[in-house]
Amino acid sequence: MSNLSYLQNPLGRRKTTLNGKWNYIIDLYESGYWNYRGIPKEKMENPPLSDTYFLNYKPKDKSERIEFDFDVSPTMNIPGDWNSQVEKLYYYEGSIWFKKSFDYKKKKEDNRVFVHFGAANYRTDVYINGKKAGFHEGGFTPFYFEITDFIKEKDNFIIVRVDARRKKTSVPALNADWWNYGGITRDVDLIETPACFIEDYKLQLKKTDKKAIVGYIKLNGNMPEQKEITICIPELNIDRKYKVGENGTVDFEILNNAITYWCPETPKLYGVELINDQEIINDKIGFRTIEVKGKEILLNGKPQFLKGISIHEENPIRANRNYCKEDAQMMLGWAKELGCNFVRLAHYPHNEYMVRLAEEMGFMIWDEDPVYWNIQFTNSFTYDRAVDMMKELVNRDKNRAAVIIWSVANETPVGEDRNKFLVELVNTVKSIDDSRLVSAALEVSQVNGNAHHYTIDDPMADVMDIVSFNQYLGWYDGTHEKCAKLKWDIKQDKPVFISECGGGALGGFFADENTRWSEEYQEKLYQEMIKMLNKIPQFRGMSPWILADFRSPKRNLTNIQDGWNRKGLVAETGNKKKAFEILKNFYSIK
Ligand code: GCU
Repeated sequence: MSNLSYLQNPLGRRKTTLNGKWNYIIDLYESGYWNYRGIPKEKMENPPLSDTYFLNYKPKDKSERIEFDFDVSPTMNIPGDWNSQVEKLYYYEGSIWFKKSFDYKKKKEDNRVFVHFGAANYRTDVYINGKKAGFHEGGFTPFYFEITDFIKEKDNFIIVRVDARRKKTSVPALNADWWNYGGITRDVDLIETPACFIEDYKLQLKKTDKKAIVGYIKLNGNMPEQKEITICIPELNIDRKYKVGENGTVDFEILNNAITYWCPETPKLYGVELINDQEIINDKIGFRTIEVKGKEILLNGKPQFLKGISIHEENPIRANRNYCKEDAQMMLGWAKELGCNFVRLAHYPHNEYMVRLAEEMGFMIWDEDPVYWNIQFTNSFTYDRAVDMMKELVNRDKNRAAVIIWSVANETPVGEDRNKFLVELVNTVKSIDDSRLVSAALEVSQVNGNAHHYTIDDPMADVMDIVSFNQYLGWYDGTHEKCAKLKWDIKQDKPVFISECGGGALGGFFADENTRWSEEYQEKLYQEMIKMLNKIPQFRGMSPWILADFRSPKRNLTNIQDGWNRKGLVAETGNKKKAFEILKNFYSIK
């Protein structure tokens, strides 16, 4: 049973979008948030009307001094990062305030209203009609606030401050190999619910009995007597009514012999209706088992080879954040062409359209939190942020059968503090959801300093269900000839998954296999790398880095990188590079 509150499946609820044009004010010095003595204006009894942006105060007469006016400020499209919408915001990482006006008439007087964000990067403060609704830390997970008592039928305004600054204490911290896109990067919706509504639910196959669907439904609100809810799965002839206990939660177990299990070849999803009086929540849910036995990854009891690809949440052609179903269709269309049955959604939770479409198309999913490189492993605030993000991710995707792996970290340096941090994070994830595998991109070591003899002695390998690691033989480590000379010596009796591998090429630059950055070099590297990895006895899958070129402020080789990481198999033009075919051929025979 969940001990976390989460507004499950916003897409399947009665909602009103706030997407569209929002006015914005760039606030590099946080004038709208702090007064000149560094006091947060939201904590002040009488904040100055002249520049307390969230009050949206208008001058009473022509003599009054007010130093902001959203309604004559420029607008930008929401959802959407600001970097790609306004030239002068290309590198901007400070704060921007957004404002949108709206009317709202509730369908029923005692209904409740929430404002829900798919995500905003990084720190977000939300105000409705001048009152603080709440704040959220983290750039890639959903959050919501109840605003029932703040709104009226006419002339509401929502004001949102988004601060995209990278901080040492954040997750990720200061250094990452991707563009720090700021802003309200995913959908914003008003969600209306009954006074006592279905807040959260989980439906999954029982780990120990694949003929049993188990889970819970959690209500929020004053529980009327004899409250009853219904679970309908018409295709399975399931139509069950349940009395809700005082704690507002129902735990259930439903036996059924007719389930078609979800798998890449048959990505079967069942229409599920959860009925609470007038409230009907629709979802599409698949059922499958996932487990590890020795070196094997078993989906519905069958050994799997994860034919994967890593993906950033970036549209290479638009050069900005992905945020809608059409973006997901383009990225996953390329992955399908590659012959993938698996996607690593790196390095942070992607939007829900991507996860749901991947599930519909039959991709198993690696979902990841942005505990990336060097974060402050000794800082409890940082740890709490990482835990919050994992909880928000697990709560959002716990009903997605396609998600088989929760990843808690990427390339974090081995050390006592980091090991403790990750062990606790793994325990937290498993305490919320013990039905999936846990992994992380771990560290590779040389055996006795031998540059041609590698192993995995990262202590976290003993904690993870799958031994995953990134290796760049032939790119960061020698050239492609080194692959044939390399001895991998992996001791763990667990599946081995290569979470990153590959190298760069400038799309359209043709030369020869020994010319770095040419398509021929990348092609040869893929050939040699695949041959090398295929020799590892526990080799059970890979997600080469990366599907498409992506933007990074760390990549500055003029005329080759120009602010792009070039390890994509697809260029920012949408053209496939030669190495695309090498990986596609490998997956076609695997
Ligand atoms: C690392 C890291 C990626 C990075 C990649 C690269 O393994 O995990 O985020 O983009 O290497 O160097 O291209």
